[in-house]
Amino acid sequence: MSKKVRELYEQFPYPLRDPQEEKDRLLMPPMDTLSRVNHYGFAGRKNVDAGFRALVAGGGTGDSMVWLAEQLRDCGGQVTYLEPSQASTQVARARAEARGLVNVTYVNATIGEFAAMAPEKFDYINCAGVLHHLEDPEEGLRDLVSVLADDGCIGAMLYGEHGRLAVTEWRKMVAPLLPGKDLNEQLAMTRSLLSSLPEGNMLLKMGGGPGFIKGLLENDPEIVDLLLHPVECAYDVHGVYDFAASAGLDVAAFTGFFGFGGTGKAHYSIENHITDPRILRDLMALPLRDQQAFCERYSAAMPLHAFYLTRPNKVPSVAVMPDRDLCPWFFVAPSDSFFDDLLKYAGKPIVLADGTGNAVDLTGGPDLAKLLALFDGKTSFGDISIRLRDEILHKQPIDMNQIADNTLAAVWALFHKFDWMLASSLEGGGQQHDVERRLSVLAPK
Ligand SMILES: C[S@@+](CC[C@H](N)C(=O)[O-])C[C@H]1O[C@@H](n2cnc3c(N)ncnc32)[C@H](O)[C@@H]1O
Repeated sequence: MSKKVRELYEQFPYPLRDPQEEKDRLLMPPMDTLSRVNHYGFAGRKNVDAGFRALVAGGGTGDSMVWLAEQLRDCGGQVTYLEPSQASTQVARARAEARGLVNVTYVNATIGEFAAMAPEKFDYINCAGVLHHLEDPEEGLRDLVSVLADDGCIGAMLYGEHGRLAVTEWRKMVAPLLPGKDLNEQLAMTRSLLSSLPEGNMLLKMGGGPGFIKGLLENDPEIVDLLLHPVECAYDVHGVYDFAASAGLDVAAFTGFFGFGGTGKAHYSIENHITDPRILRDLMALPLRDQQAFCERYSAAMPLHAFYLTRPNKVPSVAVMPDRDLCPWFFVAPSDSFFDDLLKYAGKPIVLADGTGNAVDLTGGPDLAKLLALFDGKTSFGDISIRLRDEILHKQPIDMNQIADNTLAAVWALFHKFDWMLASSLEGGGQQHDVERRLSVLAPK
């Protein structure tokens, strides 16, 4: 870890957090919600219990550590918080103490130093916004893999090369002005430039408008981390895959991150960007990573990539249609009137929405309501398919096995698109809902 990076995080612990706020709210970084980790990292089959061990590598002021420790508090699972900055650790520890969390071990070291200690292996490793600040990110990832359990999963976040072009351009612009200034002088200069930013500046578009710059000006650690970091690199979609492969890992799925949509993964799906059927057909014929790389440049809205990594062939796909013994369940809980509304608007075009801008159009009715009621986290895909065939589709005069499976796969795809549903084994447990979203039926227009 370079001296400059070490000094930066001693002076500006990141992100800016006040331990007092733990009394009023719990921050839940979406990547670290364990029911989602279980779904993508373990195909829904992980038993999250007292033996579960999570590592937060480069834990900063503690967002992921606090959320993971909260989720593991009742079952007795443990979190190791690894962070070289004493100042950041002080904030993180105060937050955990404010919540009465006792299942956290604090380690003051770098990833490399920690790996050299050969600790017991971890089931889940969070490493968000850290590896792109290392002199050798690939070495950092290999160090993490050396402490990952055989069936373990890493949740990582790296800067996105394309969506971050505004920052790259900014850094090129100020580079000649930085030499000879210490970090405080650089910060003062940056604040001055930001406070009279021309309307056409790319930073405004990247951040979604003037509110972004106003927020930056109230948050020095954010300015320093975003615009004045001495060591950083960024990755496009192919770069993410190649980076994973450099440590012998697969990208299991892209996922969501703070301020980056409810799920994130929907951003990487071409059906969400392209409607022209001919272009869509050509794109669908490409390998998945080419499709995702297309989305990255077409949307130009990915300043970062958050994703799960696993060892190759460890995780059966849950994307198309999960194994028949797994049970689908609503990760985003339906509103109290959800099923009644489906019946009320039977036969009419409706919109299902989760309150964060994610929506799908469909025409519902009693059959869909009956089918969705079976997605209860206790009934397996195999049993649902049989009941769909015998109780819902039975009126049809042809063999319904294939049609039942296809219907089920189509409904699953619809509800898995924004992680409204996940799948897990009954033993897996941990079917914790996404507490930030609620699924509703919007009345027909
Ligand atoms: C941008 S912050 C991210 C903090 C946190 N992961 C988050 O997402 O909120 C980067 C953190 O990585 C830590 N860090 C930098 N180099 C490191 C290394 N070699 N090993 C472990 N942590 C490191 C820094 O001290 C800093 O707290």
